Amino acid sequence: MTSVRSIVAGAGSYLPERIMTNDDLAKVVDTTDDWITERTGIKSRHIAAEGELTSDLALHAARAAIADAGIDVQEIDTIIMATTTPDNTFPATATTVQAALGLEHGAAFDVQAVCSGFVYALTIADTFIRAGQSKTALVIGAETFSRLLDWTDRTTCVLFGDGAGAMIVKAGEGEGTNADRGILTAHLHSDGRLKEKLYVDGGPSSTGTVGHVRMEGREVFRHAVVNIAEAITESLEATGLGVDDIDWFVPHQANKRILDSTAKRIGLPPEKVVMTVAEHGNTSAASVPLAFDAALRDGRIKRGDLVLLEAMGGGFTWGSLMLRY
Ligand code: UT7
Repeated sequence: MTSVRSIVAGAGSYLPERIMTNDDLAKVVDTTDDWITERTGIKSRHIAAEGELTSDLALHAARAAIADAGIDVQEIDTIIMATTTPDNTFPATATTVQAALGLEHGAAFDVQAVCSGFVYALTIADTFIRAGQSKTALVIGAETFSRLLDWTDRTTCVLFGDGAGAMIVKAGEGEGTNADRGILTAHLHSDGRLKEKLYVDGGPSSTGTVGHVRMEGREVFRHAVVNIAEAITESLEATGLGVDDIDWFVPHQANKRILDSTAKRIGLPPEKVVMTVAEHGNTSAASVPLAFDAALRDGRIKRGDLVLLEAMGGGFTWGSLMLRY
């Protein structure tokens, strides 16, 4: 039986030029390269230039994804952008990207699920496509997360970075089996009771300010490993696939130790884990598409490969998504 599938037709990414190393950070806060490396696996991160906006990063990534997919930009009928750091409180930064791409049709909107944002956005795109609402979607994760950091708080400012990643997702036909190209299954979760463990202490309706990231790192770590492993199990159970079937695991890049623990917990060999956290840090909603694009560019991810995505972030929000590229 034929069924509509959301096929990833191309991807792209962008990182701001400026690189901030752990040693650079050690000049700003009381930290060391050794501490950051040992606890997180992060060696450096990219920081957007003054005046460089989330929409600028997103546009670079979007153009790269459009070129990679080889589509005419006018084919895009939906832009879904995952971001926690919009240019303005409104309008949605996706509409700025829409205008910059020269598009005057279709829908463009932002999704706020912090670090899980891209997995949420891709799941929404899949749902739109399978419902006939969209034929070609541009899905972006873009952040200037450095603008939310308290640069006097060493427990958070060493962890994050800026960047953007994008995918073009097109409606295609499949047989309704796991051999199909496209998104095979997706599973989203949130638990608002845990808000205080990872949040920003400002916002338009509370303080009228943007605020700064506050986090109970150890608590987030503990929940992350359990939640991510459960979401992955859901994707495996829904498809009937096993861990051995996974060609590439492209997780949210928060901390090398979380990724190592997750891979071990589900029995995935380390060589199948795409890891960019050392060079990118945690770029929130941008981290999954940035990592995906890195593995696409260096030839690891190939047509037909089974790729497992997952993310976990503030809210808490978390989820997993399985696709055949
Ligand atoms: O995208 C999802 C959101 N975030 C995450 O997934 C992050 C999850 N959590 C983590 O990655 C880890 O918990 C951290 C990397 C944030 C922290 O690692 P940890 O092993 O849990 O360390 P800790 O918070 O228990 O702190 C250990 C010590 C503390 O000192 P004392 O109290 O033992 O004297 C901290 O004050 O390390 C100290 N510390 C630092 N030292 C040097 C905290 N930050 C730093 C720092 N440099 N940057």
